[in-house]
Amino acid sequence: MTKYVAVAGKGGVGKTTFTALMLRHLSKQKKGISILAVDADPNANLNEALGLTVTATISDLLEQAKNPKAIPDGMPKDIFIEYKLQQSLVESKDIDLLVMGGPQGPGCYCYPNDLLRKYLENLGSNYDFVAVDTEAGLEHISRRTIPHIDTMFVISDSSARGIRSAGRVHDLIRGMRAEVGEVYLVVTKTADNSLESLADEIAQTGLKVIGDIPLDPLVVTQDLAGKALYDLPDDAVSVQAVKKIISRVGILK
Ligand SMILES: Nc1ncnc2c1ncn2[C@@H]1O[C@H](COP(=O)(O)OP(=O)(O)OP(=O)(O)O)[C@@H](O)[C@H]1O
Ligand SMILES: [Mg+2]
Repeated sequence: MTKYVAVAGKGGVGKTTFTALMLRHLSKQKKGISILAVDADPNANLNEALGLTVTATISDLLEQAKNPKAIPDGMPKDIFIEYKLQQSLVESKDIDLLVMGGPQGPGCYCYPNDLLRKYLENLGSNYDFVAVDTEAGLEHISRRTIPHIDTMFVISDSSARGIRSAGRVHDLIRGMRAEVGEVYLVVTKTADNSLESLADEIAQTGLKVIGDIPLDPLVVTQDLAGKALYDLPDDAVSVQAVKKIISRVGILK
């Protein structure tokens, strides 16, 4: 059965870093595991963290399908959209990637959204593991373009504001119709005493801390150089921290 994992949190807290390092760990730990990464953040950059090149996002392709002239004569529109969706899948040795893209333009998108939902459901079921890098508003999860989530990681940086925002994401999840299984808090960019200092704020969110990722100079230099986080060495503190988190959650079982 496919395991669906989502990563959420406010802007800049370290969602994409966590998602990329989680996928790095899974693909290296379990040979032969099939992984689909979905970048559902309008400010998409998971591809860079994974070292993959994206030519078109799903939004781009759906936008093209709005133009009747783009559809070849005699081809039904749903077949055309499905064909376009298939084109948007980036395939690589370890991980395949879908990029949702920015908000869609004006006009009703109910029809393509239904197709997208069905497409993602069918596509996802071909993989052992589907990981979704999403944004704080959880747009695709609340609209149910992403079918259901087994494990949700809410990410916060080491600030009281970040933790409060994680609490609001938690409230949002609890208020949604979507099926979401376990929800965990991951605190990133921590120093030695960050978790103790934030303990009261964390308690108010009702979230369970599953671990932290220390501030890692190697993440900073890798990002500064525009290099893939996927290529960080095994002994990087961030890589080790994510490994510990994944083993606690047991998502590889
Ligand atoms: N553990 C860490 N150590 C050092 N720097 C980190 C760490 N985690 C994230 N960063 C840095 O914080 C910044 C934001 O990280 P990232 O892109 O993962 O966040 P995000 O939540 O995905 O952001 P966005 O909302 O823009 O998508 C990046 O510059 C990244 O290098
Ligand atoms: Mg991101």
